[in-house]
Amino acid sequence: MIFAKNTDEVSAMLSAGYRGRQVLAVADVNTAAFVPRGVETLVMPCGEEHKNIESVEQIWDFLHAHEATRDTVLLCTGGGTVTDTGGFAAATYKRGIDYLNIPTTLLAMVDASTGGKTGFNRNGVKNEIGCFKQPAETVICTALLNTLPREEILSGFAEMMKHALVADKREYVRLLAMLEDGSLQHTESAEFADAVKRSIAIKERIAGADPEDRGIRKTLNFGHTAGHALEAAAISKGRVLRHGYAVMQGMVAELYLSALKEGMPHEILQQMSSVMREYYGRAECGCNDMKELLRLMRSDKKNKTAGETNFTLLADAGKPLTDRHAGEKETEEALEYLFSI
Ligand SMILES: NC(=O)c1ccc[n+]([C@@H]2O[C@H](COP(=O)([O-])OP(=O)(O)OC[C@H]3O[C@@H](n4cnc5c(N)ncnc54)[C@H](O)[C@@H]3O)[C@@H](O)[C@H]2O)c1
Repeated sequence: MIFAKNTDEVSAMLSAGYRGRQVLAVADVNTAAFVPRGVETLVMPCGEEHKNIESVEQIWDFLHAHEATRDTVLLCTGGGTVTDTGGFAAATYKRGIDYLNIPTTLLAMVDASTGGKTGFNRNGVKNEIGCFKQPAETVICTALLNTLPREEILSGFAEMMKHALVADKREYVRLLAMLEDGSLQHTESAEFADAVKRSIAIKERIAGADPEDRGIRKTLNFGHTAGHALEAAAISKGRVLRHGYAVMQGMVAELYLSALKEGMPHEILQQMSSVMREYYGRAECGCNDMKELLRLMRSDKKNKTAGETNFTLLADAGKPLTDRHAGEKETEEALEYLFSI
């Protein structure tokens, strides 16, 4: 992981580090401007609906058309959509070429671009196809966030809250304070950059200890069992639900289960429900979507036994519990709570 102050520093680091190798880039229409000058770039359409096999094929075709070899480096410049699909295309092209991430959204900086999970959506299921391949390097430059819309900042901030909730109660309290004092409007501040660094450190520590998601890394799935179902339901209806917003909703539902089943203090559920109401708005799904959401949760790839839904829950902030199960009635109750706030 390299931290850069501005785009010139990013370019200088790349030309020094990859001299003599063919460098190709993939970006989307909003992030192509961040690709260092002179690098041949495939520009993809933007949005979660393009995180699919067609985009992966386009990247493979682009690599093929430029006679990429196993020595070629693919520069994935964009949000999580670009880093997930670009990383997967690189992991599979000629049995794997190096790729580098230059994340341009807050969500990709703190989460998607580290840890080596790559993949795409299929059959309406989030990340149904994917593999683990670590990026050769990730370059973090928070100056790239200057053009990022506020909703996208909030989307990334939800993953920062998740990192704090599963790993560090003090950090959770700090982030609540940052929301209240308006720090999110100042992504150029040193305070904001430090919070990003701390969040990445949590992700790196946990993912590094368990690269293939068999043990402690499952703690990072907190909010994601319900969150991925809400996100997939939105995609299937042609609606936009940002990943972090889905995770925020998923966390509220799973905090409800944590309070119900694991004795987590109610105060945390109340705090996070207020955060969601005040900053993220209400869930778009409702009780009419219940059947579909329960079906999607049953098909979640984290489940080991067919018919059972696996969750990561909390005993408290900083005290995660993995491989917990909730019955259909309890899950419905948690979703009803989510839809009521
Ligand atoms: N691999 C992982 O470990 C992991 C972890 C978390 C999330 N994800 C995945 O990440 C994806 C979501 O990523 P995301 O939230 O970054 O979404 P995204 O990549 O779709 O980007 C969101 C929007 O912001 C635009 N954008 C990006 N950078 C910009 C900038 N600097 N200025 C202006 N606009 C900019 C994009 O063009 C897009 O329209 C989801 O598919 C999710 O599943 C992966």
